[in-house]
Amino acid sequence: MAPPSLQFLLSSSLLVLLLASLSNAKHSFRPKALVLPISKDASTLQYLTRINQRTPLVSVTVVVDLGGQSLWVDCDQGYNSSTYYPARCHSSQCSLANSLGCSECYSAPKPGCNNNTCGVIIDNTVTRTATTGQLGSDVISIQSTDGSTPGRVVTVSKFLFACAPTSLLEGLASGAKGMSGLGRTRISLPSQFASAFSFNKTFAICLSSSTSSNGVLFFGSGPYKFLQNVDASTNLIYTKLYINPVSTASAYSSGDASAEYFIGVNSINVSGNAVPLNKSLLSINSSDGYGGTKISTVNPYTVMETSIYKAVTKAFIKAAVARNITRVGAVSPFGVCFSSQNVGSTRVGPAVPTIDLVLESENVYWRIFGANSMVQVGNNVLCLGFMDGGSNPRTSIVIGGYQLEDNLLQFNLANSKLGFSSSLLFRQTTCANFNFTSSA
Ligand SMILES: *[C@@H]1O[C@H](CO)[C@@H](O)[C@H](O)[C@H]1NC(C)=O
Ligand SMILES: *[C@@H]1O[C@H](CO)[C@@H](O)[C@H](O)[C@H]1NC(C)=O
Ligand SMILES: *[C@@H]1O[C@H](CO)[C@@H](O)[C@H](O)[C@H]1NC(C)=O
Ligand SMILES: *[C@@H]1O[C@H](CO)[C@@H](O)[C@H](O)[C@H]1NC(C)=O
Ligand SMILES: *[C@@H]1O[C@H](CO)[C@@H](O)[C@H](O)[C@H]1NC(C)=O
Ligand SMILES: *[C@@H]1O[C@H](CO)[C@@H](O)[C@H](O)[C@H]1NC(C)=O
Ligand SMILES: *[C@@H]1O[C@H](CO)[C@@H](O)[C@H](O)[C@H]1NC(C)=O
Ligand SMILES: *[C@@H]1O[C@H](CO)[C@@H](O)[C@H](O)[C@H]1NC(C)=O
Repeated sequence: MAPPSLQFLLSSSLLVLLLASLSNAKHSFRPKALVLPISKDASTLQYLTRINQRTPLVSVTVVVDLGGQSLWVDCDQGYNSSTYYPARCHSSQCSLANSLGCSECYSAPKPGCNNNTCGVIIDNTVTRTATTGQLGSDVISIQSTDGSTPGRVVTVSKFLFACAPTSLLEGLASGAKGMSGLGRTRISLPSQFASAFSFNKTFAICLSSSTSSNGVLFFGSGPYKFLQNVDASTNLIYTKLYINPVSTASAYSSGDASAEYFIGVNSINVSGNAVPLNKSLLSINSSDGYGGTKISTVNPYTVMETSIYKAVTKAFIKAAVARNITRVGAVSPFGVCFSSQNVGSTRVGPAVPTIDLVLESENVYWRIFGANSMVQVGNNVLCLGFMDGGSNPRTSIVIGGYQLEDNLLQFNLANSKLGFSSSLLFRQTTCANFNFTSSA
């Protein structure tokens, strides 16, 4: 990548930047986007990434939490860094983090245990366990990208995160030391990276369906290029992102909005026919925050409120049987399974009825093909990868990880828009096809 021209840098407003960069040449490079690999843990089905943090740098494995509020890591065990700073009470960092207040600590000072430091709520969204922990900052280094391959490593010197006790790691994949929140807050990873490098408050996630090859997370705008020279930032379908005014976290202060990403599903079609649904479940009740549809990387499969689950599976079974697909006994955790015998295969997975999440109008829909609807559970059995969420769940539809795999989702937070690609398999590529071989 060519360095910015001197003339450009000298233009009045950027003079300060130049002076700052003279002291440390590597800071003069301003990335357009950043990239992180995402792996899938075979036993928990959680999606993981690795963040390089601290001085000296340590690679920390964290669970990717699309709707999570912040980065949090275990500070009790093995946190040793010369660049950790507690966030002073009443500082701007504390207000950015929507801090609860000040805290003291009565053992030896260390990261996560300081006086005059603000506290925040930390949420393990896998087990739905919350605790409070201290806010602090440390160095994070991450690879930049031109959208095709990873480039130069860049550094954020005071990246805000919360310190958790080791016990909060319970329920996370083996080796995970915390969670990385990508949610709608001012201290989530997308917000902090966008402000550190002055790029658009946009990020994109592309989960791999394979537990042996990595998917990818981009911070910043596209291009997002995959092998076969596919730029997945093009040809996206856009839908509005909604804010649930009532927090969906395990613990929160009253008045807090949810940090999760909601979309407006208006109806669901199976094989092109509308499924009869109780429409009031599909909208968010603004007084108690119940209802609506959110996207989650913490749920491995889509979960639907009972009446929606029953209506969708009934329509799906009917359409499958009409195609001469034979239903077989359920295989836990799924409720609806079929013999794979009469199921053909297509570029986008098993040839089964399509499921459309119809959005703001009849021609804006998220179409789920066999690769994202059917889970192979044995040699000859395919199960519908949807779960029954019970009769009064907080959120009526939670679109889970399996349904997101090999689809690129771009979250534009400035415009509250979600761009989605539908299955990349149509374009003969996958989320595992980002070229992680560094060019720098
Ligand atoms: C922490 O790191 C410093 C400097 O790298 C080292 O001297 C010290 O022994 C380390 N402490 C622990 C508890 O690992
Ligand atoms: C915090 O202040 C209290 C009382 O002043 C003191 O006992 C304690 O050791 C201090 N804690 C730390 C981590 O410095
Ligand atoms: C940032 O977003 C705006 C509006 O969405 C867009 O016009 C612009 O091209 C984006 N900037 C970059 C660097 O992609
Ligand atoms: C969904 O079903 C309705 C009613 O059958 C139909 O009018 C509409 O075109 C369908 N939309 C899609 C995307 O299949
Ligand atoms: C539809 O859902 C709402 C919200 O849960 C509920 O109050 C109502 O009774 C349901 N209507 C029917 C016909 O089941
Ligand atoms: C919304 O929630 C409030 C409080 O729980 C409840 O009284 C009201 O009936 C709900 N509205 C709808 C349309 O379900
Ligand atoms: C339907 O499935 C049965 C049993 O597998 C098979 O014998 C039959 O030929 C199939 N019929 C059609 C129309 O595909
Ligand atoms: C991946 O990128 C590297 C570095 O830019 C390049 O040398 C290599 O050919 C690329 N691999 C493929 C399969 O395109």
